Amino acid sequence: QSVKAFAPATVANVSCGFDILGFAIDAMGDEVEIRLRQGKGLKVVSIEGDEGRLPYEVEKNTCAVAIQAMLDEMGQEVGMDIFLKKGLPLGSGMGSSAASAVAALVAANYLLGEPFEKKNLLPFAIAAEKAACGAGHADNVAPSLLGGFVLIRDYHPLDVIKLHVPDGLHCTLLHPHFELKTSDSRSVLRDNVSLKHSTIQSGNVAGLIAGLFQEDFELIGRSLRDVIAEPYRATLIPGFYEVKEAVKAAGALGMGISGSGPTLFTLSKGAEVSESIIKAAQEVYDSIGLGVDTY
Ligand code: HSE
Repeated sequence: QSVKAFAPATVANVSCGFDILGFAIDAMGDEVEIRLRQGKGLKVVSIEGDEGRLPYEVEKNTCAVAIQAMLDEMGQEVGMDIFLKKGLPLGSGMGSSAASAVAALVAANYLLGEPFEKKNLLPFAIAAEKAACGAGHADNVAPSLLGGFVLIRDYHPLDVIKLHVPDGLHCTLLHPHFELKTSDSRSVLRDNVSLKHSTIQSGNVAGLIAGLFQEDFELIGRSLRDVIAEPYRATLIPGFYEVKEAVKAAGALGMGISGSGPTLFTLSKGAEVSESIIKAAQEVYDSIGLGVDTY
């Protein structure tokens, strides 16, 4: 018996919601096939599309870590072979490790007769994120698993809320040609946040969520502001502020770092301005000699 599952790319943080907001991208993602096998134990049989860089060891591979966490919870030992097809670039900030873990969990859960409701697979996906980057953040795995725009209101206990998404809210992704590891991009952050910044940040999170529910695109755009992570991470991303200015002038509601970067996301009302956004960003990247893929 075998089952294939697909899980999409995601944009985590969405500027102001560090570790608590994320949304799924209706485009690319990873695909995982799981085959039941006689005997016990997980085996990563093949990985395609990673240029030979992802680990096959079950303690390190995010698909295997996620499934193992699920089997441990069930107290079962099952033989499973894992076949991973990467559609997402590594170290891009598009939730690559999350998509692999989520697709693996959905396929394995289905093969086992769905002992877990979808949302109850989250802790296992979080365990995989922890193995991948040292931090058990849920803002990629939750939207990759549940779809749409998601708020992680709390981690202990996990409280995940699906948010309303206005029709026509469009995301354009700008992926400059270099990699950033989430662990490195987290290591530049500060442990403490000032009272002043905490006020600014909560105002924007609340504004973004209100904007989504009220379908107020201007409010959504104004709320894409981050004083906690972006100022430190922007230093790791060449051209960040120039691109931001250029895409806003081209009609984007706002722009931020997708997850831990280096991919940047913009939001716009409708897809029509996407082309101008891409053109504006490309000009900046050309001027600093950095290649960029756009989605
Ligand atoms: N919230 C995480 C971070 C997302 O910013 O480190 C990583 O994709």
